[in-house]
Amino acid sequence: MSETSARTTEGRGKLYSSILDTIGDTPVVQVKKSVPPNVRLYVKTEFFNPAGSVKDRLAISIIEEAERSGDLKPGQTVVEATSGNTGIGLAMVCAAKGYPFVATMPTSVSVERRKLMRFFGAKVILTPKADKAMGCYIKAVELADANGWFLARQFETDANAKIHENTTAREILADFAGDRLDYWVTGYGTGGTFSGVAKVLRRERPETKIILSEPINAQLLQSGEAQERNAIGAPASSHPAFQPHLIQGWTPDFIPAVLQKSVDAKRFDELAPVDGQEGINASKLLAQKEGIFTGISGGCTFAVALKIAESAAPGTVILCMLPDTGERYLSSALFEGVGEAMNEEEVALSASTPGFQLIDE
Ligand SMILES: Cc1ncc(COP(=O)(O)O)c(C=O)c1O
Repeated sequence: MSETSARTTEGRGKLYSSILDTIGDTPVVQVKKSVPPNVRLYVKTEFFNPAGSVKDRLAISIIEEAERSGDLKPGQTVVEATSGNTGIGLAMVCAAKGYPFVATMPTSVSVERRKLMRFFGAKVILTPKADKAMGCYIKAVELADANGWFLARQFETDANAKIHENTTAREILADFAGDRLDYWVTGYGTGGTFSGVAKVLRRERPETKIILSEPINAQLLQSGEAQERNAIGAPASSHPAFQPHLIQGWTPDFIPAVLQKSVDAKRFDELAPVDGQEGINASKLLAQKEGIFTGISGGCTFAVALKIAESAAPGTVILCMLPDTGERYLSSALFEGVGEAMNEEEVALSASTPGFQLIDE
């Protein structure tokens, strides 16, 4: 698009019969100001999904696969353990399709996530922070068994990686057709994004290096220690390398089965540890220098991509995932230091002209 001509639009030229048809096809956008001039760094902006995160893709995939297989009956309650985004995506999909939805979630994730799910009509069952992701996971299984509910099983279901193979990966291939793509950078929660996209890139763009990032204080994969599992592949205990970290949605306290499959198939070239605070700084940089608003995991992925850009050969092309919107973090460390009242500089600016000054309000 020309940067000087006035902007106009022709519209999309189509009408949508459901909000669910707007999931996916997220824009890939170049980040310029913070990146060395001879390298191109792009971000895939998953916050354009209707409920604001990459997890909308997983939600529609799980529900529609279960409808097709008959595992989910009309009007049956859906239940899932979630750090928030999957729950918000499922709450949206279930609302649109008429299924009651119950989420289990540890108290450690941001309050906005609970409120958003409840706003979509979902019930949110909170589990103790001390029991980590495992606690809310087991609670969801208990509730499903006790009530005959449909358990979404984001950490194990094939519907997770499959939607990323069929949509996220296809979008990346189409957007970079005829162009270089030297690096693709992502983190993992369930590992669905990584598994689906990496499988396709390995096959169709084998030259693309796949960089998988994890929190510096929870390097489950780097540790090389195996995850204990039960007979159906679900985690049997908390992983010994886990420490609580700032990156909501990334790296639960176990290695999910979805992730394990792609790790075993060696679908990454490098593991990149990242510090949550570095991600928070990078998220602020993206917002303030580029006008791109993403959460902590997006900031972390961008921080890793930026490091690659800083030492990359001229002409290198990098793509990184931005999984969700920063609005999901208003009460979290991402917004620490962002005040509600005017600061000194703002008060002085207000006082510099005569009108409408705030006095003891
Ligand atoms: C904020 C955020 N970033 C990244 C991810 C990771 O996505 P995936 O589960 O596909 O690995 C999630 C998943 O919950 C998330 O909520």
